[in-house]
Amino acid sequence: MTLPAKIPSARRISCHASSSAPSPVHQTGKEGLHDFLHISDFDKLTIMKILDRAAEVKALLKSGDRSFLPFKGKTMAMIFTKPSMRTRVSFETGFFLLGGHAVYLGPDDIQMGKREETRDIARVLSGYNDIIMARVFAHQDIIDLAKHASVPVINGLTDYNHPCQIMADALTIIEHVGQLEGTKVVYVGDGNNIVHSWLLLASVIPFHFVCACPQGFEPDEQTVQKAKSAGISKIEITNDPKEAVIGADVVYSDVWASMGQKDEAAYRKQQFQGFQVDEALMKLAGPKAYFMHCLPAERGTEVTDAVIESSRSIVFPQAENRLHAQNAVMLHALGL
Ligand code: CP
Ligand code: NVA
Repeated sequence: MTLPAKIPSARRISCHASSSAPSPVHQTGKEGLHDFLHISDFDKLTIMKILDRAAEVKALLKSGDRSFLPFKGKTMAMIFTKPSMRTRVSFETGFFLLGGHAVYLGPDDIQMGKREETRDIARVLSGYNDIIMARVFAHQDIIDLAKHASVPVINGLTDYNHPCQIMADALTIIEHVGQLEGTKVVYVGDGNNIVHSWLLLASVIPFHFVCACPQGFEPDEQTVQKAKSAGISKIEITNDPKEAVIGADVVYSDVWASMGQKDEAAYRKQQFQGFQVDEALMKLAGPKAYFMHCLPAERGTEVTDAVIESSRSIVFPQAENRLHAQNAVMLHALGL
């Protein structure tokens, strides 16, 4: 096959960056782009705007309309150093539904910090992709990724927090309760990454957040102080779940042993006696209380089968909202 002597200029492959739309390879700063690492990196107006956008794009997708393709021609790298079902599927599907292509990188593909340094991964992936989503163990890894990537980085869960989950939870509460502001959310269980994201949301949007956990399993003290000193929300950390749930709009639960702590599961099961969300606890909460759980749930451990299957349980609409909340987070991250 002989090559044409002259390729028409419009089709000629250039070795230089286009001046109108620079490829991520040539990006140096993040002007107009935003990492999404902690809820508290944003003000109330921005969080509410993202949630409004989530509802808007959700309605569009639910109507069957597939003409909104803001991610057309864009690619996303998804790094997972821990297992996932919801996060992987909702990010990959959401990005595809809005026109983009997502690439899954599992624990064996990257081996963050072992096969390669995080700062090298960040720079290499920035050359191929328009956005990076990552689920990692150490929180410092997501900070390092964001620092060295020239494209936006989205936190898909770390040992410290899970901001995308809490955006989906906020959207779900707005849909079911009518608003987030002024509601009483009572988390029962381990003071873990989910609780930290609730606390960071409470430092931006006013509501009443209570964490009822066994002694010794309280959330990070600095994060509690940050939420309290913001002076926006009422924050309570207690060891009494029965007292805590009274008047709740939402009773929220999560596993007692998070990813990375599964070898402590038996010990934790003993320590968390009295912290299971069962029908008696939901009765104490009152008839208006919804039950939420970020999932995966260990039925019969932190929550009973009856509660998760009850008419007050909104765990599946909550899980579905991961996709819609994250679509809006990605739109914001890309400045679209
Ligand atoms: N809630 C949540 O993040 O679920 P996965 O661990 O399945 O992604
Ligand atoms: N706290 C749980 C949340 C899972 C979505 C964990 O980190 O395993």
